[in-house]
Amino acid sequence: MDTMTDSQATAQTIDAFDQGGALFAAWTPLLWDPIGAATVALAPPKPGEHVLDVCCGTGSSAIPAAHAVGPTGSVDAIDLSTALLDHGRSRARSLPNLRFHHADATEWTGGPYDRLQCVFGVFFLPDMDADTRRLVGLVRPGGAVTVTTWREGGVQDVVGPFFQAIADVTGVAVQPRQSHNAAARVDSAEKVAAWLESLGLRDVTVHPVDHDAPVTPESAWQFLMGSAARVFLADKDPATVTAIRDRYTELMATTTTFHARALVGTGTTPSA
Ligand SMILES: C[S@@+](CC[C@H](N)C(=O)[O-])C[C@H]1O[C@@H](n2cnc3c(N)ncnc32)[C@H](O)[C@@H]1O
Repeated sequence: MDTMTDSQATAQTIDAFDQGGALFAAWTPLLWDPIGAATVALAPPKPGEHVLDVCCGTGSSAIPAAHAVGPTGSVDAIDLSTALLDHGRSRARSLPNLRFHHADATEWTGGPYDRLQCVFGVFFLPDMDADTRRLVGLVRPGGAVTVTTWREGGVQDVVGPFFQAIADVTGVAVQPRQSHNAAARVDSAEKVAAWLESLGLRDVTVHPVDHDAPVTPESAWQFLMGSAARVFLADKDPATVTAIRDRYTELMATTTTFHARALVGTGTTPSA
């Protein structure tokens, strides 16, 4: 059971993304950019629209959105990880209509926006329902909301053996974090559709997105260390971390593909 406060959990998550920023950036073209691009392709912003991209990371969905809205539109991309924002800004120098902001998604008050998009972010919010509902409130009536989540087992290829390695080395099963439990609430098309409707959205559709990335034990470990998964090592001493890594390398020996499986859900806010 999680005993830490919401702000402690957020701080730990952001610290993981900051510490792993270079590795997250290395995985950006392999995973985050393709799924961000697929999200924008499935729910394309129109020229001139004003978009809010929440939990933007290195801009994998914010950058294609900025291209789609063009010079008469704009994208506010918000995140709390300084390292990822820096990578995003360096990738978007030619896009003056895209602004990266160091801001907490639970506190941001811009808008009104034509569109909200959030890729692999809602489950990190301390209260997924209330915090997302508040963000939806920043979208004008008749605007669009797009949320990308992981399908059940969508990161199993790389994360499953990690949890197994921790259990094998420590003898203790990994305790799910709040974000894991929240992610499980939106890990099927039916659940995403029902959840978006519970937020008051209309005309909800959900599409699967499959993306296969080549992987080695080494690159899979780098993926984990560039993600929130690294929080599971935060309380381990260096020798234990080394043992977990060695066990993970054994378990991943025959895995050559990371079958990433996501869901893109879209709905519209009620008209005024
Ligand atoms: C898995 S990453 C996804 C990044 C990006 N959307 C992508 O698909 O590449 C989750 C992101 O959520 C951000 N995040 C988590 N909690 C946040 C909060 N309360 N406010 C803003 N960003 C947050 C993290 O810093 C991280 O960049």
